[in-house]
Amino acid sequence: MKRLLKWAGLGLAGIAALLLIVIGGAFAVSEAMIRWPVDRPKVQLMASSDPGAVARGARVAKLNGCHDCHGEKLQGLLFHDEMPIIRAWGPNLSRAVAEQTDSELDAAIRHGVAANGRRLWMMPSSAFAHLSDRETADLLAYLRTYKPTGEKQPRFQVGPVGRLGVLLGQFKSEPDMIAANGGALKIADLGPEHARGRDLARACVECHGQSLEGNKTMKSPDLSIVASYDPADFARLLRTGVAAGDRKVGLMTQIAPARFGGLSSDEISALQGYLKARAARQIAMADVTSAGAQQP
Ligand code: HEC
Ligand code: HEC
Repeated sequence: MKRLLKWAGLGLAGIAALLLIVIGGAFAVSEAMIRWPVDRPKVQLMASSDPGAVARGARVAKLNGCHDCHGEKLQGLLFHDEMPIIRAWGPNLSRAVAEQTDSELDAAIRHGVAANGRRLWMMPSSAFAHLSDRETADLLAYLRTYKPTGEKQPRFQVGPVGRLGVLLGQFKSEPDMIAANGGALKIADLGPEHARGRDLARACVECHGQSLEGNKTMKSPDLSIVASYDPADFARLLRTGVAAGDRKVGLMTQIAPARFGGLSSDEISALQGYLKARAARQIAMADVTSAGAQQP
């Protein structure tokens, strides 16, 4: 009996040791994936210096939510606290801006690669990849108006569930996401009359998906929903964050006033016009597909 117990004990210890090796291995592999270096992009951009640049850059920063994650004074902040998935701080940009060249900053913003060559995670470079050279040069002029302030922020911490996401390829670094998109803006081009609306819709890609199809992780809907929105309700959603039917809608309610509150009535109707045309095209394409499927 004693001997049997001893063997059972050894067996359990063996299983525990094996488990530790598996967990340790998974941790090491995910850590290597997070830190794996990436080719530096060839970037040559200079901050604009013309008189209107700072004001235009402030608008780009606002529409794209730089302050939401990097703080009012670009001092950095904890913006996402969801253990056991991830805890993430926006780094202190006021210091990064003082230490880095324009091209290094652009490599981080539009390519997802930090000045020291490591890949960025949780920084929405895959959405900002669609900023033009001019918009980025204006943005840099605006960022350079900030003086260094505050302490360095910690780098993000990935919990066990987040690491599983990394291992399964569900949670990807920004350069990987950009590569997966082939660098192109995927939201439908609906002709010159909708060019302005499409330009504005780039500010929705970060959370509503690369082709505005909705994002499961973020629980955000396909933006075809905007076709059924009354224009006054749509303007109210963007300016105040309150959705049709007087509803608060999570992250959208939190971010809309600061990001989209400054849009003019013309811009809001251009954006809705674009999203309506996109929804109409989706329906037309679905009709064609189902008509095709019904044919013998
Ligand atoms: C959703 C949150 C979020 C938003 C929005 C965001 N950032 Fe970031 N940003 C991050 C995180 C997180 C990192 C650090 C990522 C890492 O360390 O892997 C980062 C890193 C950076 C870096 C590199 C900093 C360094 O220390 O080298 C720059 C530059 C930067 N962001 C600029 C911007 C600009 C400009 C905008 C607006 C156009 C912006 N970010 C919007 C989260 C965000
Ligand atoms: C930082 C993330 C983020 C950005 C940027 C963003 N959204 Fe959203 N949005 C969300 C999330 C998350 C939801 C779902 C919220 C919920 O239902 O709890 C949502 C919901 C919506 C809804 C549905 C509201 C309803 O009636 O339920 C509309 C419409 C919408 N967003 C439009 C836009 C448009 C247009 C843009 C770009 C100009 C945009 N959003 C940019 C995160 C975002």
